[in-house]
Amino acid sequence: APTPEQLEFERLIETDSRVEPTDWMPEAYRKTLIRQISQHAHSEIIGMQPEGNWITRAPSLKRKAILMAKVQDEAGHGLYLYSAAQTLGISRDAMYDQLLSGTAKYSSIFNYTTPTWADMGSIGWLVDGAAICNQVPLCRCSYGPYGRAMVRICKEESFHQRQGFEILLTLMRGTPEQQRMAQESVNRWYAPALMMFGPPDGESPNSQRSMAWKIKRFSNDELRQRFVDMLVPQAEVLGVTLPDPDIRWNEERGHYDFGVLDWDEFYEVLAGRGQANTVRLANRRAAHDDGAWVREAARAYAAREDADRST
Ligand code: ACO
Repeated sequence: APTPEQLEFERLIETDSRVEPTDWMPEAYRKTLIRQISQHAHSEIIGMQPEGNWITRAPSLKRKAILMAKVQDEAGHGLYLYSAAQTLGISRDAMYDQLLSGTAKYSSIFNYTTPTWADMGSIGWLVDGAAICNQVPLCRCSYGPYGRAMVRICKEESFHQRQGFEILLTLMRGTPEQQRMAQESVNRWYAPALMMFGPPDGESPNSQRSMAWKIKRFSNDELRQRFVDMLVPQAEVLGVTLPDPDIRWNEERGHYDFGVLDWDEFYEVLAGRGQANTVRLANRRAAHDDGAWVREAARAYAAREDADRST
């Protein structure tokens, strides 16, 4: 028979209440959350790189200031998410070790390179757009600290999405060369952004259980469909073409149909063989090493404060 604690956990899930760090929870629920939240945190931190690449080259002071603020937001998101994961009993050092040793996953999307300025537009519009679609439902995640962290993150993501849209809109209203740059960038980012939602439902080992626990509220394919439905009218406003000849309105379904994605590419990226996996991790390791003196100084300062207090 289930224990009173198990019954209480089930009641919390059933009634859409929140599980808090001090509540009893099944080990598998805890593990799933640590996996998802830490992967999400790593994605935010690694996700600073593709755009960090453009800060010094942004075309105006205004664009530089906006891009810097955005990359800084991503650092903030990573830090809230590491804090949320820590409430489940994993240390930040352990999560850093997993990332730096290459054993942790982070989002496939951040292993693509950003050769043109238009990529800053595509990342905002497509990548952050996909992130919002995926993350708004996570605000209602059954685990309290994760759901609450997602509220602020989603507000900031929606600003990021609009700034990306605005970059592309400006380019599309520019010279033919700027228009070509915008279209070429959208061509490269469209399919990888759709893959951010994860493998098709039939190949998603975690979805069913995570949905039963109300960690995830919708399946990968449901959210991907929602994203395509959102993109089509926005692409029309921009005047860009989504690089999928199979996109068409399906009256019966009330959704846009779209083509099959190249899942081999997705699994290649997950296996570490994307365009930029190696450089992303190398940069992250170098940044971690470069920051050693800051951690050391913070520890020395904390020790001195403790000593001062005890005298
Ligand atoms: N990139 C890298 N790995 C992925 C991706 C992706 N786009 N999609 C799925 N995976 C991994 C899963 O993490 C899982 O790996 P694991 O079992 O070894 O941990 C495996 O592929 C199978 O996928 P699912 O069973 O579908 O995994 P899950 O139920 O966790 O769903 C999803 C994946 C949708 C990404 C979910 O974890 C999620 O919503 N995470 C929070 C959002 C997030 O991390 N966003 C990061 C990018 S957005 C941004 O940072 C701006």
